[in-house]
Amino acid sequence: MKIKSTIIMFIFCFVNSNAQYNNITIPEALYGTTFNLNIHESIRQIRTGNQTVTGSINNETFWGPTLFINKGAAVNFNITNNLNESTTIHWHGMHLPAVMDGGPHQVIPSGTVWQPYWTMQNNASTYWFHPHLHETTEEQITKGVGGLMIVNDPIESALPLPRTYGTDDIPIILTSRNFNASNQFTVGRAYGDYMLTNGTLNGQITLPKQVVRLRILNAEIERGYNLGFSDNRTFYVITNDGGLLNTPVAVTRLPIHVGERYEILVNLTNDTVGSSIDLKAYNSGQSNSFPGGEPGTSGQFGSLLNNTTFNVLHINIGTVTANPITTIPTTLTTNTYLTAADATVNRSVSITGGQNGGAVPFTFDNTIFNIASINKTLTVNTTEKWTIANTPNAVFGHSFHIHDVQFKILTRSSGTVGAHESGWKDTFFISRNESVAFVARFADYSDSTHPFMYHCHFAQHEDDGMMGQFVVTGPLSVAENSSTTSFSL
Ligand code: C2O
Ligand code: CU
Repeated sequence: MKIKSTIIMFIFCFVNSNAQYNNITIPEALYGTTFNLNIHESIRQIRTGNQTVTGSINNETFWGPTLFINKGAAVNFNITNNLNESTTIHWHGMHLPAVMDGGPHQVIPSGTVWQPYWTMQNNASTYWFHPHLHETTEEQITKGVGGLMIVNDPIESALPLPRTYGTDDIPIILTSRNFNASNQFTVGRAYGDYMLTNGTLNGQITLPKQVVRLRILNAEIERGYNLGFSDNRTFYVITNDGGLLNTPVAVTRLPIHVGERYEILVNLTNDTVGSSIDLKAYNSGQSNSFPGGEPGTSGQFGSLLNNTTFNVLHINIGTVTANPITTIPTTLTTNTYLTAADATVNRSVSITGGQNGGAVPFTFDNTIFNIASINKTLTVNTTEKWTIANTPNAVFGHSFHIHDVQFKILTRSSGTVGAHESGWKDTFFISRNESVAFVARFADYSDSTHPFMYHCHFAQHEDDGMMGQFVVTGPLSVAENSSTTSFSL
């Protein structure tokens, strides 16, 4: 009897306020200019019963540590691949020399170390690093290999924004998964039946009664979300993928697609300590922009069909911290955006394929990805306008991403560009029958051995060949001439 009640007490304390929820993992924060990342297989207790084999980095068991880097810093990495297979680590959204980019050409064989380095040129925002080895990207992302990079700069640091990591500044990495009967991830179905928030099923967090910042990454294989709160409160978008917006953008719903990051501010000052709200993914009612998923099964939050509503995070309101942020700033920064008039080259890319219900792979310009062939050749320090057209008989929407640059979306043929996506972007969703134009300046050199990629960020589409590569020609920079070849352990 005595032992039993002790166990019950213990379980009660451990589980916290709501027994059906689990506290989300906050990945360890790493600071500095040299980062040692050890990629390895791991196991994680995700569901009741068998543990799940995952892939991770250093001490984590699903997604790796969060890397904090200052703009202007010279950073270098020692990336050890202790997986039993090759991988790569790509710095999604980073402006860097192509040889450091970590795309399909910068392979890290099992048992070797890769040592990229560059000077951080990106603005303060939230970025993602993840595997990018051709045809294994879906499998390795499914396991949870990757993590967040948070870039700081003097403009962001001077603003009255929440920035106590894990307390009022929270990384939120969203991705759904499917499990087999022994609780192992299954690969090959685009939409998971179980939402993992930072790798945690039925995730919850306690946040202080003040303004909080959520840094949200859609790290899905294919699913888009229409985020909002259970009480429909207004919240504020402060960044796009590649930096601060000029002013916070007030929204009640925020679409976020695969590869996109948005930082949001949520005002909890009027909430009651002990109450709760849910961050949810709402049914958009737009099967066109949120392509319909497969029927789900029985997750605790129900099926995660794209055309249904499900929880992504249960938020308990806790007590205020010392020196809280209590108001939403009215201005953030002054961006000088590129315009259509800045472009001296116009280029277009057509989304093709997908016929017979997807039996024909999706492609760009009817050309399946070939690692040995370059699809576009650009000239360094040129500003280009790219128009991506999802052809008139398109069967699907896609998440389009291009390496090395942050661009400005100019137009969407379906309507106006939303204020929430009016900043520096590296990824956007393109609906069926839509065309989207953006302008970007290409300032990093590359060559045919180390080209940059543009691709659909739906991992299956990418692995199946919905990817192209471009080189940016010009004299090689010092960094380009340096070798980053891996060495054996
Ligand atoms: Cu997030 Cu080409 O990658
Ligand atoms: Cu796609």
